[in-house]
Amino acid sequence: MSLDRILNKILIIDFGSQFTQLIARRIRELGVYSEIISHKQIKNQNINQSIKGIILSGGPLNVYQINKYSFDKNIIENGIPVLGICFGHQILSKLNGGRVKQSKHREFGLANIYKKKNSPLTKNLFNKKKMIKVWMSHADQVSKLPKKFSVIASSQNSKFAIVENKSKNFYGVQFHPEVTHTKNGKKLISNFIFDICKIKKNWSSKHQKKKLINDVRYQVGNNKVICALSGGVDSSVVAQLLYKAIGKKLYCIFVNTGLLRKNEEKQVVKTFKKKLKINLIYVNAEKEFLMKLKNVSDPEKKRKIIGNLFIKIFERYAKKIKNVKFLAQGTLYPDLIESKSVTGSQTSKIKSHHNVGGLPKKMKLKLVEPLKFLFKDEVRKLGLELNLNKEIISRHPFPGPGLAIRMPGLVTKEKINILKEADHYFIQALKEHGLYHKIWQAYAALLPVKTVGVMGDNRTYEYLCLLRAITSEDGMTADFFEFKKSFIQEISNKIVNSIRGINRVVYDITSKPPSTIELE
Ligand code: XMP
Repeated sequence: MSLDRILNKILIIDFGSQFTQLIARRIRELGVYSEIISHKQIKNQNINQSIKGIILSGGPLNVYQINKYSFDKNIIENGIPVLGICFGHQILSKLNGGRVKQSKHREFGLANIYKKKNSPLTKNLFNKKKMIKVWMSHADQVSKLPKKFSVIASSQNSKFAIVENKSKNFYGVQFHPEVTHTKNGKKLISNFIFDICKIKKNWSSKHQKKKLINDVRYQVGNNKVICALSGGVDSSVVAQLLYKAIGKKLYCIFVNTGLLRKNEEKQVVKTFKKKLKINLIYVNAEKEFLMKLKNVSDPEKKRKIIGNLFIKIFERYAKKIKNVKFLAQGTLYPDLIESKSVTGSQTSKIKSHHNVGGLPKKMKLKLVEPLKFLFKDEVRKLGLELNLNKEIISRHPFPGPGLAIRMPGLVTKEKINILKEADHYFIQALKEHGLYHKIWQAYAALLPVKTVGVMGDNRTYEYLCLLRAITSEDGMTADFFEFKKSFIQEISNKIVNSIRGINRVVYDITSKPPSTIELE
């Protein structure tokens, strides 16, 4: 029997909000199993005893656009506690006889809400002034409460910011408790699931691992799966998870582009082939990549050449494995949000990201994306649960086009060798000083400029090395890391004294925006 059917759960009915996965994530963090189902799929006969609570998500709809959504009212009439969030709050009111209309003042962003009376949903939620800051994002609002509902809290623009029908265990909130901007939002969700739904803790990364392994087995059956392994966190976790699920039916292909960090290819082979015994096809394509990049210095051309060659090589080797039906890739949830435009507006393209996943479209393989509902930190936890070594799990992100985009101008073997050394010394120093994990991403780059220096009474004329170290939440925005002078001095000396080819070091002090994290 599948794990999901045995476990008690909170059912999240999705009406298309971009935050629905965040609700699931908060519930996972509280140690409880939850499942998301679209409002288009849920039927009253799906409701069974394992469902201890129902959350109706937000969404871009309007409750009066009846033709745009379907929802069987009986689903909330099974005696199970219900929490409606934003659109979910509006539809809950509407189904119970209330009214919803366009707000006079749309509310987007932070708002203060004030307590009107006690409720189990808001236990230990408000501050001494009986207020909390919440994050609102709505244009419609409940204008008339249904019978037997009462107001728990209001904001200046939303009289019905939190409401309840205690006898039925129905609760509605106009704001988003699942986003971190809402103060104590997780406490509200915790009050709902533990005190109102009375569900017990039943979920951990161990359960997560078991469920994902079960799901992969169920999806791929006896078929073979290929996976492009890069040595980064996401593809490493996917490879290890699939190996635990299907063993030798998994084939990993690792392409050494020659543009990797120092000794990276050796580490990948050592970890995955020798230690973990995964089927690993190692392809040394260093020369091919260098050839294709000869005389190319335009950043976008570099990215395209590397991306296309990667696909070609991957396909070449994948074809040698007979009867493959699936391609595994490490898509994470934020990748999914970013790839679909929530507002439908055109966003301008800054860089063509080269991502290994989803590339060999011609091969008509079905996708296995076991991490697609997880966030990066959850993937790291899962990796540890799968016994992957800490060093792999906590590595800084590394771009697909590798060192090619960290050396503006031409890509040559000489420059690659110099850069690998400089980067290695920098990263080593960060680790030795206990700084590596305080920094989101750090690297060395080689600028296409030579400057004059003096060493041992002799003139030098060598490259300029740029160091970049940033702090960030998710790579979308970033700030430079403030080093102590002693550290920056030590690493500058180390690089200049140890590497022939570099006689000057600079530190990048721009944030993102206006710069990006990588140079190209
Ligand atoms: P930027 O330079 O756009 O980088 O500020 C944001 C994050 O994305 C990484 N990056 C890439 N990752 N393929 C990847 O898988 C790419 O083509 C690529 N380009 C940039 C970058 O290292 C940073 O973490």
